[in-house]
Amino acid sequence: MIIAIDGPAASGKGTIARSLASVYGLHHLDTGLLYRAVAKAVLDAGHSPDDVAQATAAAIALDPTKFDNDALKLQAITEAASVVAAIPQVREALMNYQRGFAMKPPGAVLDGRDIGTVIAPGADVKLFVVATPEVRAERRVRELRARGEHADEQEVLADLLRRDERDSRRTAAPLKAAPDAHLLDTTHLGIDAAFRAAVDIVEAVRTGRKRS
Ligand code: CDP
Repeated sequence: MIIAIDGPAASGKGTIARSLASVYGLHHLDTGLLYRAVAKAVLDAGHSPDDVAQATAAAIALDPTKFDNDALKLQAITEAASVVAAIPQVREALMNYQRGFAMKPPGAVLDGRDIGTVIAPGADVKLFVVATPEVRAERRVRELRARGEHADEQEVLADLLRRDERDSRRTAAPLKAAPDAHLLDTTHLGIDAAFRAAVDIVEAVRTGRKRS
């Protein structure tokens, strides 16, 4: 079984993806980490994230088995991740790894922006997870503060909106729902309720009550 979960920044897709993977015994890949790792490599080497040649070389050289997830989640990397993610050659270089991961038995949950549209268009279940920008900003602020990072609500909101805009407007694999994705709005749902709603959709698709 392959479950594709897409949606804008901090919509709750990562939490839902992790829980679904654990309940169904599937592998999980947070594909945002790949773009974050490319951005970090480019920044660490002193280059600009919109340097196509450097970003592409970093994507080709990437070793996803050696990620330091905490360092990649830092707010300083986030904006640069969305800049390198708009470069078609970077996306191309990361495609085979993601597709190979999705095919690993017994199956996988992948979360990102283009999983249901580009990486795994044949996924068994596709979710598109959304929430209002204000709620997403609140959640991200809590997450950053829990990790000891300074976070200003207005700055975080502005960052989310800027990234959503860049991710949606780019020509290479823009952020958008696949036509057969199930929309899950988590604005008024806590973690448990959002997870239960996701399981309901997966079960409905599996038992043939919904087409995905
Ligand atoms: O956790 P958050 O939603 O803030 O970000 P993320 O999922 O880690 O993704 C960081 C950036 O990587 C996004 O803003 C996108 O530009 C890019 N990304 C992408 O283009 N395609 C994906 N499949 C995943 C992430």
